[in-house]
Amino acid sequence: MPSSSSTLPWAKNVAYVHFLVMSVLISDVVHCSSDRNVIDSNLLTQKIGTRRATIVDISGQGDFRTIQAAIDAVPEGNSNWTIIHVRKGVYREKVHIPRNKPFIFLRGNGKGKTSIVWSQSSVDNYQSAAFLVESQNFVAFGISFKNEAPTGIAYTSRNQSVAAFVGADKVAFYHCAFFSSHNTLFDYKGRHYYDNCYIQGSIDFIFGRGQSMFHNCEIFVIGDKRAEIHGSITAHSRRSAGENSGFVFVGGKIYGVGSLYLGRANAPFSRVVFANTYFSRTIVPQGWTNWSYAGSPDRVYLAEYKCHGPGSASKDRAKWSKQLDDKEVAPFLSIDYINGKQWLPAWL
Ligand SMILES: *[C@@H]1O[C@H](CO)[C@@H](O)[C@H](O)[C@H]1NC(C)=O
Ligand SMILES: *[C@@H]1O[C@H](CO)[C@@H](O)[C@H](O)[C@H]1NC(C)=O
Ligand SMILES: *[C@@H]1O[C@H](CO)[C@@H](O)[C@H](O)[C@H]1NC(C)=O
Repeated sequence: MPSSSSTLPWAKNVAYVHFLVMSVLISDVVHCSSDRNVIDSNLLTQKIGTRRATIVDISGQGDFRTIQAAIDAVPEGNSNWTIIHVRKGVYREKVHIPRNKPFIFLRGNGKGKTSIVWSQSSVDNYQSAAFLVESQNFVAFGISFKNEAPTGIAYTSRNQSVAAFVGADKVAFYHCAFFSSHNTLFDYKGRHYYDNCYIQGSIDFIFGRGQSMFHNCEIFVIGDKRAEIHGSITAHSRRSAGENSGFVFVGGKIYGVGSLYLGRANAPFSRVVFANTYFSRTIVPQGWTNWSYAGSPDRVYLAEYKCHGPGSASKDRAKWSKQLDDKEVAPFLSIDYINGKQWLPAWL
């Protein structure tokens, strides 16, 4: 029958096309929800809501050749988001975002393309830093921060070489990398968010008193075999039970060379949580240490929740460390821990 033979396939096609469209829509929804946490440069730029960017280009094709010159040009008391786009290149300069210049978005071309490299060591962590941010509402995307000074246990000098000093409230880093041999990331104070970042170091390389969330970060350990002691990834300095500070790692992985502790008791209420993180064999069985800490480790909050991988076995963990249950970990698992929905640009 001509009518059925012509309409049926057509009808079938419609149904098939409809099926295809629906499956594309459905898979799009699934795709979006599973990748919802991957925040890229375009999304951040859109959320920040300004397209105008000052261009820093090391070869002289932009508005400025150095990052610091672009920051110096931002007016004091700046109250509108300002994008400073840093084109690819190795920028050998110390970069300082002073207290009175909030709302700067420092946007690189990717952590493998745009880097700030400096070499300075000092007995003082703050003085040594290659990059310092001291103003609120700062966002960085796609930049590497590196301090090349030869420091660490293998050197006789007790100097520090901080890659980044983060000393203000409401600061976020997306897809950035931090490199140093020693004391890499000085997360001094305030609420911070590190998303899909890479952090490398050997001893106490994430330290300070920040209230910070590290989401899906990659932590690369470079243990030094010449050292008699194992270093620690974190050294958090929470001093009282009333303080909101603490480092929280959600997801991500830890691996590298040599062996290290997850962290050490460094103050009476040091607080560090690793949740759903992969630990390679680089994490020692005791997990946590009170090395060089004279106080009691009874009130520290050094904890793990459902971590996995060969370094995650809890059997030989320090007695005073914690394995959290679902209820205990709940306040640490979302960005509400840093009140992120109130200030993170990607959530506004
Ligand atoms: C911020 O932007 C608004 C609107 O675009 C403008 O009126 C105001 O002058 C800007 N403020 C500063 C400090 O540049
Ligand atoms: C250590 O830092 C001090 C400044 O605090 C500096 O004068 C000295 O040269 C540094 N030592 C080394 C070995 O770099
Ligand atoms: C570490 O804590 C234990 C008790 O858990 C204590 O016996 C030891 O002396 C402490 N070590 C240091 C260096 O304080």
